[in-house]
Amino acid sequence: MNRILIKSPATSANVGPGYDIFAMALKHPHDEIEIILDHSGLVKIEIINDDQNIPTTLNDNTAGLAVLELLKRQQLKQGMTIRIIKQMKSGGGMGTTGASAAAAVFGLDKLLKLNLSMNEMIDIARMGEVASGGSPHADNVAASLLGGFILVKSYHPIDVLKLEMPEFPVVLAAIRKSQRTTRGFITYEIGQEKLKEQMARCSRIIHAIHTKDIQEFGSAFSVDHIAEPVRGASIPEYQSVKKQVIGSGAFGCQISGGGSSVIAVCDPEKVDEVAYIMEQGFANNPYFVKVYKTTTSNQGVQVIG
Ligand code: HSE
Repeated sequence: MNRILIKSPATSANVGPGYDIFAMALKHPHDEIEIILDHSGLVKIEIINDDQNIPTTLNDNTAGLAVLELLKRQQLKQGMTIRIIKQMKSGGGMGTTGASAAAAVFGLDKLLKLNLSMNEMIDIARMGEVASGGSPHADNVAASLLGGFILVKSYHPIDVLKLEMPEFPVVLAAIRKSQRTTRGFITYEIGQEKLKEQMARCSRIIHAIHTKDIQEFGSAFSVDHIAEPVRGASIPEYQSVKKQVIGSGAFGCQISGGGSSVIAVCDPEKVDEVAYIMEQGFANNPYFVKVYKTTTSNQGVQVIG
């Protein structure tokens, strides 16, 4: 076998208070990654349907960087073409870069029969994220690989737990980032009171998943004292849209992953109303792309060809 085609889902990281340790997979959108092995000894990247000027230089592309990491760790020299077939009209914070890195590592593991463990694959794929955000966070790649809800239990060494995620309706406004990453502006110095609330909210999220309680889940994920203050401030309409979304009866609204996309959870019958609020609210934002109506999902990467 010298060719494989992988489907890799969008993911929403942080899930409110769980900065760099929580993420969840979405049913759609997704990207597809095709890997074709050859004897050139060179790794090449091709992007199909690119609307975002995704870099094809290996060190600047999340899939490219992850593959270089895998080849280095396995001490392999293997030529290949990695074709990233974009289906996601991307905003920032939908895990698209992680989806590519995760699929590339998963596909190569299959093609080269490496039998890497899931934690090893996550550890390699997360190195690809350095190309996008400058940091090897594991949350998005883990959710793309495994599906469901991810808790990164440990970064040293990488150890990830997947929880089965109830299928919650999700409305996601895809908004591109106005700058490459806001991570450098985020501080952990949030003070004792906010720190206690942050920890309580993380615990509430886990409990809400175990009890399949979407109301509790939405309420817990709507406040984050670490990333939301920085990322919310970079989206002029964010606070007003969030207020309207919650006011309409949605259970929760938050920045998705690294931003600037915005995610809400609500009852199925509220999905259209929440989507309309987001479409109207972000209509004049030059970085707004589109609104997705989807659900959380337990499906991670899949071989489709
Ligand atoms: N945890 C990462 C961050 C996710 O917040 O930067 C990036 O999508």
